[in-house]
Amino acid sequence: MSIRLSNGTEIPIEMHKVRIVQKVRLVPVRERLRAIEEAGYNTFLLRSRDLFLDMLTDSGTNAMSDNQLAAMMQSDDAYAGSESFYKLADAVEDVFGYKYVLPAHQGRAAEHLLAKTFVKPGHIVPMNYHFTTTKAHFDLAGGKVMELYTDEALKTESDCPFKGNMDLDRLRAAIEKAGPKNVSFVRMEATTNLIGGQPFSLKNLHEVKDLIEPLGIFLVVDGSLISENAYFIHQREPGYENTSIKDIIREIMAVADLCYLSGRKSCAVRGGMIATNRKDLYEAIRPWLPVYEGFFTYGGMSSKEIEAMAVGMREMTELDVAGASADAIQYFVGLLREKCIPVVTPPGGLACHIDAMRFVDHIPQSEYTAGALAAAVYITSGIRGMERGSVSMDRDANGNDVPSDLELVRLAVPRRVFTMSHFQYAADRLRWLYEHRRMVGGLEFYEEPPVLRFFAGKMRPIGGWGAALADAFEKDFGPTC
Ligand code: F0G
Repeated sequence: MSIRLSNGTEIPIEMHKVRIVQKVRLVPVRERLRAIEEAGYNTFLLRSRDLFLDMLTDSGTNAMSDNQLAAMMQSDDAYAGSESFYKLADAVEDVFGYKYVLPAHQGRAAEHLLAKTFVKPGHIVPMNYHFTTTKAHFDLAGGKVMELYTDEALKTESDCPFKGNMDLDRLRAAIEKAGPKNVSFVRMEATTNLIGGQPFSLKNLHEVKDLIEPLGIFLVVDGSLISENAYFIHQREPGYENTSIKDIIREIMAVADLCYLSGRKSCAVRGGMIATNRKDLYEAIRPWLPVYEGFFTYGGMSSKEIEAMAVGMREMTELDVAGASADAIQYFVGLLREKCIPVVTPPGGLACHIDAMRFVDHIPQSEYTAGALAAAVYITSGIRGMERGSVSMDRDANGNDVPSDLELVRLAVPRRVFTMSHFQYAADRLRWLYEHRRMVGGLEFYEEPPVLRFFAGKMRPIGGWGAALADAFEKDFGPTC
């Protein structure tokens, strides 16, 4: 929720109070330089103790509610038939309107099960945009991911309210070319992560369904960030301003045939699931659950997390909860735009995304534009963001780099974790970095894993720019900042 102050400024207002906190430390710049060097200029390899604000991800890092924590104390650890599972199943039925639930240990485990069951060699899987783990699983199963986004999707500066929509003409053409029998399913990702947390509209979802249903193709929604997408529909889609978040989620699910999700995001826990009303789809996936995840009633999740997920799923339908991160992001993006820092607009869910191709436009993609900027942000602020650009793309079959469509540095805003002064600090240090952006240079790999290289790859700064940047920062702010 946002409120307007009497001077006209709009601020995000917290509809909760903070009762448990975790201490953080403003790590001095010299220590930050040492830490990023040890981490091979890869923010994934930094340790928590070396961070001031951890904006790597909102995955598993949202603040949990008192009711979620209380529910964890009442969990039932039965291997089979756990009561905790039935509480989750009740919540899924209530919030999503789905009868069948398959728990999984996290989102990518659900993707693995879908890939194993439905993606065959030579198939295509049309989607609004890929997510890294989704693509890895569907590729490994022999499928071809096809991203059928609209022209607006990749424009980092835009006022299009639904950049996560699918282009229907491109979808029709892709299906015609492959033949409907060679389409595993169509996937729509809520609050599309890699293009800046951008939503799809219900109108577009209905149109996708109307196109594919007569062809016998089913519709899968990746609902990891479902409540944020519903919040944007509530805010931006004509006709839904008076519809509750829960009713919007139920309408999305009534259009989709199946939903899978990472419980680490909107549901504010650690876990995942697949849910559907289609018995045929459920029965096709179900035999694989105990093979890869665990028995049907826990699927690799701890019973404590199952309890907390049941509560988190209901809580995410409250307007204040669904909008907590989106409103904070809007405020953060506003601060950065005032300081002329290039960010993705309109503000999305999950994170504020800095457009590295405009911030450090002198660094070519072959030298990992966004990777270099993410490391520079850490050196100058102690804030850990995540590279979402060419480092996050693995090499092609010939060993060539695949330049990413966008080079973004994601500063994630987990729900109910950071304060307005954190955002003001971040905006101030980013402005300093923007003024010194020419000091930032490119990166080159010296250790490079073959799959999902962004997690564990190590790089060095070409020309040793990291130390020079830290020196300049220390000169302006002193050794302790
Ligand atoms: N789908 C989407 C849209 C996601 O954002 C994620 C994870 C997954 C699937 C995979 O779920 O991590 O539970 O296995 N996103 C995290 C992120 C990792 O940082 O954005 P998972």
